[in-house]
Amino acid sequence: MKVAYHGHSVVTVDTRDHQLIFDPFITGNSLTDLKPEDVKADVILLTHGHNDHVGDTIEIAKRNNSLVVAPNELAVYLGWKGLNVHPMHIGGSHQFDFGKVKLTQAFHGSAYTEEDSQKIVYTGMPAGILLTVEGRTIFHAGDTGLFSDMKLIGELNHIDLAFLPIGDNFTMGPEDAKLAAEWLRAKQVVPVHYSTFPVIEQDPHAFADSLPGGVGKVLEVGESIEFK
Ligand code: NI
Ligand code: MN
Repeated sequence: MKVAYHGHSVVTVDTRDHQLIFDPFITGNSLTDLKPEDVKADVILLTHGHNDHVGDTIEIAKRNNSLVVAPNELAVYLGWKGLNVHPMHIGGSHQFDFGKVKLTQAFHGSAYTEEDSQKIVYTGMPAGILLTVEGRTIFHAGDTGLFSDMKLIGELNHIDLAFLPIGDNFTMGPEDAKLAAEWLRAKQVVPVHYSTFPVIEQDPHAFADSLPGGVGKVLEVGESIEFK
């Protein structure tokens, strides 16, 4: 399995049989190496409804006939746009053919902004996503502030790889993300959601260096981690 970072919160997971993408914000993402028209995805996993996470979901899902897995209200909204959706909610898990997904809580907002009509559509609660595939568990925290139940998530799951936001302003900053990494007990932690916009400018290497030896791993855009 190959897990790659593509800027902001975009993560792809290529398994033996499936191509998955988390939060495919590509158009307007100043950092990404992806082009929406080139993305192949059997499955799109969404943490919440903000535009910098839903991103190019509609275009990618229509072209690939992807399954979109999202918190319920966001899934309903995207279902009305004609997508093939699987709604879930916090605390719930489901075994799919590509792997197991469980949603965790995240302390944040969740709404889709329709720019043209200046309308905000609330899309329920935001989530984090635990994905277990080929014997490994990946945690994509979504957008969140620090919360102490991360200790519980760490106790109940053996997380091989965690993607944690460090951008500050909208999510945890590096100091809180350091505590999150400790509480989640992830074997590897990759910082995300930084330096896409001036207000979330951060030094990912300083964050990775602040974690105990070998835990912090900065993935450059397009770089991946391989699990055998
Ligand atoms: Ni957000
Ligand atoms: Mn965000």
